[in-house]
Amino acid sequence: MTKKTGTTKKSPATPVLSAFTHASYVYTGEMIRKKDGRKLEPADVSAVEDGAIVFDQKKIHWIGPARELPKIYKSVKATDLKRKQAIMPGLIDSHTHLVFAGSRAQEFARRCAGATYQEIADEGGGILTTVNATREASEAELFELALKRALIAYRYGIRTIECKSGYGLDHDAEMKCLKVVKHLREALPQMTFVSTYLGAHAFPKDRRRTEYIDEMVRKTIPEVAEKSLAEFCDVFIDEGYYSIEEGERVLRAAKKAGIKTKVHADELANTESAHLAAKLGANSADHLLKISDYGVESLAESSTVATLLPGTALYLKENFAPARDLLDKGAKVAIATDFNPGTCYSLNLPLMMNLSALYMKMNSAEIFAGVTYSAACALGLEATKGTLDVGMDSDFVVLPYDCFEEMYYRLGW
Ligand code: NIG
Ligand code: FE
Repeated sequence: MTKKTGTTKKSPATPVLSAFTHASYVYTGEMIRKKDGRKLEPADVSAVEDGAIVFDQKKIHWIGPARELPKIYKSVKATDLKRKQAIMPGLIDSHTHLVFAGSRAQEFARRCAGATYQEIADEGGGILTTVNATREASEAELFELALKRALIAYRYGIRTIECKSGYGLDHDAEMKCLKVVKHLREALPQMTFVSTYLGAHAFPKDRRRTEYIDEMVRKTIPEVAEKSLAEFCDVFIDEGYYSIEEGERVLRAAKKAGIKTKVHADELANTESAHLAAKLGANSADHLLKISDYGVESLAESSTVATLLPGTALYLKENFAPARDLLDKGAKVAIATDFNPGTCYSLNLPLMMNLSALYMKMNSAEIFAGVTYSAACALGLEATKGTLDVGMDSDFVVLPYDCFEEMYYRLGW
């Protein structure tokens, strides 16, 4: 018999409130949310001039002009920003390959001397170079590398970061990479990590294509779902990589297991994979350097976010994605780094904002939405992150500048 011990009634702890007052601007992004990130005008960043924000550890309690701060918050411990600093939602990098080992500096030098990305890949380099190094690394080594990178991202104002596996290319090595993301979450609770299974990043050299796809569909995806190791499944559908049919098979298996989807689409060649992403209701179709008019229409008519990665176009010396076309037709567009060892070795999201302004002709609200609201949609987090409102997460950054445009005006700072 178990002896009943007295129950201690816990009264719900009253949250400790803090405030920032006299921010030059508090950018709430309210209009961006109302317009679902589509057809944005610069004023849609919804800037509250001389603003204040009251919040606890988890949620926002009040936002408005500092002079209208309600009496009940007057005694809250506040930091006066003296109209020298602005506040905006924490940046969201919705596409990175954060977990890998090894370096491709030598291959980069070869590419600079004229070799193409495809040529290096065809010789067994490229993604497979990183796969070899990642397979050899222990989980602890991969964690140390990823942790350092996450801290760099944090300093750029990134508070939410998506992390893909995809450099293991077999069941155990992929699971090892996904576990690293779990440990990152425990180590850095001040950041939000979104985990994506990208087993279909390339084909392992040592296996037949169908055999590896069978393993993903029958073994890895169900186990990833069961152990909650990834919220998303992504597939690199491109010339020389996964075909539309192969990609669709993997993505359907993920959906069946309750995992949301994303697609590396139309990056090296047009395969109509952006259309597939829209058809399957994926959260995002990413890259899109070679997207067709049909693909643009498909994304514009869907809730699938077009995630653009201008650093990759720059690094591959390719034309930028047709951002204006996508935006003018009404698509939701996110901007991310694509941080990875081969095609964009940078975590500098503000630099990607700069490239979006200069080379993709995006206006300031489109750029703002690209790293906040629309990026949150790409990760399914728009109910709590990406814009600022009462009841949403206390997930914002206090900029060292008085307006957010300074962030991408400074080239690569
Ligand atoms: O997003 N496109 C596929 N994957 C990466 C590149 C990976 C690599 O070269 O290591 C990308 O560009
Ligand atoms: Fe990528």
